[in-house]
Amino acid sequence: MSEKFYVTTPIYYVNDRPHIGHAYTTVLADVLARTHRSLAESTFFLTGTDEHGQKVQQAAEKRGVAPLAHCDETVVRFQELWTRLGITNDYFIRTTQESHKKIVAKIMQDLYDRDEIYKADYTGWYCVGCERFFTEKDLVDGKCPDCGRDVNAITESNYFFRMSKYQDWLIEYIKTHPEFIQPAFRANETLGFLKKPLGDLCISRPKSRLSWGIELPFDPEYVCYVWFDALINYISGVGYGSDDEKFNSWWPASCHLIGKDILTTHTVYWPTMLKAIGLPMPQTIFAHGWWLTGNSKMSKSLGNVVNPMDMIDRAGVDAFRYFLMAEMSPGNDANFSEESFISRYNSDLANDLGNLLSRVSKLTIRATGGEIPAPGENNTDDQELAQAVDSAISSMAECLESYKLDQGINAAMNAVRAGNRYLEKCAPWTLAKNGDTARLHTVLHNAADALCRVAVLLAPVMPEKMAELLAVLGADKANIAGIADLKELKSVAGFTMKEAVPLFPRIIVEEEAAPAAKPEKKVKAEKAAPAKTEEAVNVVVTIDEFFKTRLKTAKVLTAEKVEGADKLLKLSIEVGSETRQLVAGVAQYYSPEAIIGKTIVIVANLKPAKIRGIESQGMLLAAKDGNNLKLVTIDGDMPSGVSIG
Ligand code: MSP
Repeated sequence: MSEKFYVTTPIYYVNDRPHIGHAYTTVLADVLARTHRSLAESTFFLTGTDEHGQKVQQAAEKRGVAPLAHCDETVVRFQELWTRLGITNDYFIRTTQESHKKIVAKIMQDLYDRDEIYKADYTGWYCVGCERFFTEKDLVDGKCPDCGRDVNAITESNYFFRMSKYQDWLIEYIKTHPEFIQPAFRANETLGFLKKPLGDLCISRPKSRLSWGIELPFDPEYVCYVWFDALINYISGVGYGSDDEKFNSWWPASCHLIGKDILTTHTVYWPTMLKAIGLPMPQTIFAHGWWLTGNSKMSKSLGNVVNPMDMIDRAGVDAFRYFLMAEMSPGNDANFSEESFISRYNSDLANDLGNLLSRVSKLTIRATGGEIPAPGENNTDDQELAQAVDSAISSMAECLESYKLDQGINAAMNAVRAGNRYLEKCAPWTLAKNGDTARLHTVLHNAADALCRVAVLLAPVMPEKMAELLAVLGADKANIAGIADLKELKSVAGFTMKEAVPLFPRIIVEEEAAPAAKPEKKVKAEKAAPAKTEEAVNVVVTIDEFFKTRLKTAKVLTAEKVEGADKLLKLSIEVGSETRQLVAGVAQYYSPEAIIGKTIVIVANLKPAKIRGIESQGMLLAAKDGNNLKLVTIDGDMPSGVSIG
């Protein structure tokens, strides 16, 4: 791993309203930047806005304001969203700022002086929407090949960059530098594009047609083509031409993150421009896929654009960041749905991570009053947990190199799940009951230690929540600035554990009651259903499918009738160190007194549901035969929270 990391996002069209796609690229860049910082590497993170061009000019004209005034207003939408999302960019560049314009002009003059730019007549097909010229053979059915809209034939004198002369060099460079364009299938896409002869690039627009741009220093009748101007932000933003020391310390960029829609501009225009300028190539241009909604591209006209602010309001910034990072495998497209968001939130964050913290905190406070105890000898269970954590740490480092952050996050969540399994297996509640203090202390220490390390690992994804988690563990007082410090962290013993606040409260979805709570409805549904086929009756599940359902023992602490519902009982149940509320349709068979104290069996990972407005966090199991119902209970003594299977 190199010791410096310079990451960029595309600079966003200032006219647009930021949506989940923009948020994704920026959060991904932020997580990469934060992780590299956490590994103690010097890091620079650049983002910004693309403010010239026809669309901005037209929008400003429509509003009757000057283009810059229009940009000054609309840029705020991006800046505000980045603040809300906790984006830690080191600089925000606007292409309308003087320092950038000066560098663009300087580069153009230099290229013109060296005959890399020349003037010629040009007839082309122009797409106003994309602000791009196309040749006749580029068009698809006579329309813009990118957006499918109508194009206009335009003949005019323009300035051209001699891009074609770099074609062979570029092909060779891509072939000999596999890390240059990632994922590899995108490199093949660019190589496919380069099979056709590469033309020169028209880099000017006559002011008669478009005035909102950077004036060509050698011809005041023209402004610079918006892409030629925009791409230069990646070097002007780190001091090219103005601060050599700064520039040399950051360039070449480690990674230009882009969406797959802007592959050609970044993997053909930009490298050839850099070559002509005389600068080294960025290490990697990584093109991620698209966020789709309902499996189609988001668009204003389809009305399926996901507004990040809505999701943040619903579940908080960190949960949104987590979802974006965990759900999309960079390189491929991902589909956004509210359901997938809530389901991932509830299972990964509320259930796995939230529960581990709440158990570790409660059990430690109960055992020691708060101080995380020193561990004793480790046995194989302890070693297994430590291995799961170590492998999460090394996997995150590997995935960082290959930009497969979703896999790194998954490895961290696997360590969390290993932590929950470890508690279930070692059963510290039983150790406490049996007075096995030495082993109890080891288990509590190791679970807290694992949680601490995973929280540091996940902090770049969920900075606020993981800081809260580390504060609960008392680790905020220790000197852990990032992943780089974990090697030095020998033990969490002596940290003062605080009571856990729910970091990720479950998101409750108003929906049909859990089946056990609605026996008659279920029966009705069964009567109405067509006769079951042999296949349906004999349906076979694999062991993995079966274990997706987490059955656990639970102890009924309290029970009361639900007012106005003669079939329902509201129970509070103990599931290990956790107390849950459950609504069950058993009131006709069990009185509250008869059910209190029983050790029952519940489906612990059932999506919570609201029954008569009361939240039910799980479902109890019962056998029902006609008018006879019996609870599934445990044959003998067994603590609550124990996994069944
Ligand atoms: N201004 C140019 C980039 C110039 S960079 C020198 C531009 N801007 S943009 O605002 O249209 O979009 C920029 C980026 O937003 C896309 O490349 C992509 O990174 C991201 N996305 C926009 N919509 C997206 C999705 N639906 N899904 C994922 N990302 C997409 O192009």
